[in-house]
Amino acid sequence: MGDSNPRQDQVQNIEALNYSGKILLNLLNNVLDFSKMESTTITLDPIPTNIMLAVKQIKKIHEPSCLRKGITLELEIDDDLPIVQLDIVRFNQVINNLVSNAIKFTDEGSVTLRITKLNETTDTVLLHTEIKDTGIGIAQDQHEKVWQAFTQASTSTNRLYGGTGLGLPIVKSIVEAMGSQVKIDSEPGVGSSFNFDLQLKLASNDELEQATKKKEHDLKGKRILLVEDNQINVMVGRQILEKANLVVDVAYDGQEAVNKVRENNYDAVLMDIQMPIMDGYTASKEIRKFNTVTPIMALSASVFMEVKSKIIESGMNGFIFKPFEPEDLLDKIEDAMQSNIPANVVAN
Ligand SMILES: Nc1ncnc2c1ncn2[C@@H]1O[C@H](COP(=O)(O)OP(=O)(O)OP(=O)(O)O)[C@@H](O)[C@H]1O
Ligand SMILES: [Mg+2]
Repeated sequence: MGDSNPRQDQVQNIEALNYSGKILLNLLNNVLDFSKMESTTITLDPIPTNIMLAVKQIKKIHEPSCLRKGITLELEIDDDLPIVQLDIVRFNQVINNLVSNAIKFTDEGSVTLRITKLNETTDTVLLHTEIKDTGIGIAQDQHEKVWQAFTQASTSTNRLYGGTGLGLPIVKSIVEAMGSQVKIDSEPGVGSSFNFDLQLKLASNDELEQATKKKEHDLKGKRILLVEDNQINVMVGRQILEKANLVVDVAYDGQEAVNKVRENNYDAVLMDIQMPIMDGYTASKEIRKFNTVTPIMALSASVFMEVKSKIIESGMNGFIFKPFEPEDLLDKIEDAMQSNIPANVVAN
């Protein structure tokens, strides 16, 4: 929809829709991530990032719910923040969780997102991030407990506000993976502040441009097998791929994928992991028994090491995170087709 010449007044709605979709996916990712969290660590994928731009999108997403509640959402972002190396997907997940909590637990007053530069050297910057609200606050004896999974500050929280108690444990793991710690400063009836410092590497404007520049794709006529059991993902995936002039074939489970790869000649396979009948790992192992050349890219919502290594072990060449951006998907497919990364040939 965002691509078919919308009127100016439609653009904003489309953007809002895109971003609220992303929030839903973000929440889904919370749950998916959590199920893996105990046994593994989060891996980060830092890219050159303009924090100011990223944070403005966050305001756009949350502003409607603030309006509805009659509270204000203030952004206080230093205007001289440098371009930094940051895993922006994970950083957004932290900010989104903390800002949605702040809004949820505040009925009067304001929620403030503040990012200030504490120190800058030739190659790093120290940033202080704070999400502050004038809401119900958290009793002192709960300050430690709210970091535990499925824990809420009071037994009435779920009844009054909903939620599952997964937001903060995930915030904690991500911020710790980034080498820092979140502090709570909160008093019942006054409000709460969640804050942390991050030491980040600087990136140059050139690096940012390089990273965001749209590549010209030359994928015309290449044949791709999309293996995915979810109808909506198939629809979205097909649209993106066909728009780039790829010829798309679909398999709805792993077994069908193995059969199709045996009978056809594809330039690449996009493989979902969780599917009925045969999952993506098993299907890839089966395919590698008779075909070691066609690139197979996993489509995965997880960013955990364990999943990544399982993907490589089963003979796939790499992975694409869900939710994916169209450009990113096409970049990855093109890279996979060009680079001839040898697949890890599977014994057994
Ligand atoms: N800004 C805040 N003000 C008051 N209480 C808070 C705030 N943030 C978190 N809490 C307390 O900490 C608990 C845990 O937060 P967490 O984000 O982990 O779970 P949740 O928001 O209840 O559910 P979920 O994030 O899974 O939807 C909340 O249930 C609430 O009791
Ligand atoms: Mg929460």
